[in-house]
Amino acid sequence: MFDLVVRGGTVVTASDVTRCDIGIRDGRIVMLGEGLPPGREEIDATGLYVLPGGIDSHVHLAQPSGDGIVMADGFESGTRSSLFGGNTTVLPFCLQQKGQTLREALTAYHALADGNCLTDVSFHLIVTDPTPGVLGQEIPALVEDGYTSLKVFMTYEGLRLHDNEILATLDAARTSGALVMVHCENEDAIRFLIGKHEAAGDVAPLAHATTRPVAAEREATHRALSLAEIVAVPIVIVHVSNREAMEEIDRARKRGVKVVGETCPQYLMLTADDLDRDGWEGAKYVCSPPPRDEASKAACWQGLEQGIFDLYSSDHCPFRFEDEAGKLNEKGKTSFRWIPNGIPGVETRLPILFSEGVMKGRIDLPRFAALTATNHAKLYGLYPRKGTIAVGSDADLTLWNPQDRRVIRNDHLHHGADYTPYEGLEVQGWPVTVILRGRVAIRDGVLQGRPEGRYLPRARSPLTSGRQGQDA
Ligand code: URP
Ligand code: ZN
Ligand code: ZN
Repeated sequence: MFDLVVRGGTVVTASDVTRCDIGIRDGRIVMLGEGLPPGREEIDATGLYVLPGGIDSHVHLAQPSGDGIVMADGFESGTRSSLFGGNTTVLPFCLQQKGQTLREALTAYHALADGNCLTDVSFHLIVTDPTPGVLGQEIPALVEDGYTSLKVFMTYEGLRLHDNEILATLDAARTSGALVMVHCENEDAIRFLIGKHEAAGDVAPLAHATTRPVAAEREATHRALSLAEIVAVPIVIVHVSNREAMEEIDRARKRGVKVVGETCPQYLMLTADDLDRDGWEGAKYVCSPPPRDEASKAACWQGLEQGIFDLYSSDHCPFRFEDEAGKLNEKGKTSFRWIPNGIPGVETRLPILFSEGVMKGRIDLPRFAALTATNHAKLYGLYPRKGTIAVGSDADLTLWNPQDRRVIRNDHLHHGADYTPYEGLEVQGWPVTVILRGRVAIRDGVLQGRPEGRYLPRARSPLTSGRQGQDA
């Protein structure tokens, strides 16, 4: 007997859309077909899409963010918000502080996360201090332990790596099989422009966008791709905001570089004009790279439609607005350079792509499943356990009501931020029921007890190991 049968829904995967029932036992999908025998529990999914549970592979939770600044979400509220947004797995970052080993950083993050997550989680490691010990001993051992992806920054004083350090990190990734994600912005150019704008008294939030121009992102994207080419290692270019950076990805791909591109809702929905809103309201939209212009939004949509981007992630990095520890901290009110970077978005990622993408005919349902779940699982070593609806996969399912029309209001969201950048946006389509490893976690919009998220060690990416689609 099945523990649970999801009956009569339209099942959507990255390759197919079919009408069938899903039989679940011991947290896994054990049968797909029409007219399955009864289960101990049944869910009527008539009129709903049944999607692979969303996987958001770019999320910041409980990340130390500088003097007196506190991120609005820890693991509990961040994963709750993510679950309500139709996600069953998130991949937050574990930030190495300078002087720390990666293991020390991981111990601290696990202490915060373990037992406190409502979705499954797995960490990417942010490398800020690539010592010989980190590169030579820690990374190879951690990859063996299932920490198979790294992120490096080309910007942010205190976090950025210089080119020689990026090369050394890429080389360590090549020998160990880790996959490296790169934040591409030219820090020196940005510092130079910040100095000029501050000297001219131009300190309002809009200057955050002006001092981080497209050229700074394009140049760094080109450089990151060139460094990866030199080391002969795959890379992921994260949170791409504009056409010129996309063209760099396309050109590198044509030269044979293995590169995956990621974009985010903010680059599809917002522009720099949002940073120019009245008063200090623009601080709500400060993130890096910054939202650009209408042409950049259109380009990013094209990138999702045409395959420059294989990943669509939230880059959820929430800070409260009206808060001493958030956007309007004491110094943040005096200059854009002190406004913490990042915006919330883990709960609105799927509804925005469905409403603006699927409902407006830009992408089809399989592409929606690929961009929100399957590609993340494949790239980051979780497939086919996660990211699809198949016999043997974890029963992570999001039941989606395509007729649900609503207006996004922060009051209805579950993150710790006191605002959403998408306040007032009308969307069609919302996750109604979410199933995590066969257990109904949200039923008709209501949390069912306290789901227990697990930590997921991951296999090496098929991109680094050459093992396309192997078991995680
Ligand atoms: O502004 C952003 N994106 N904050 C999050 C950190 C990062 O760079 O991804
Ligand atoms: Zn970044
Ligand atoms: Zn980020």
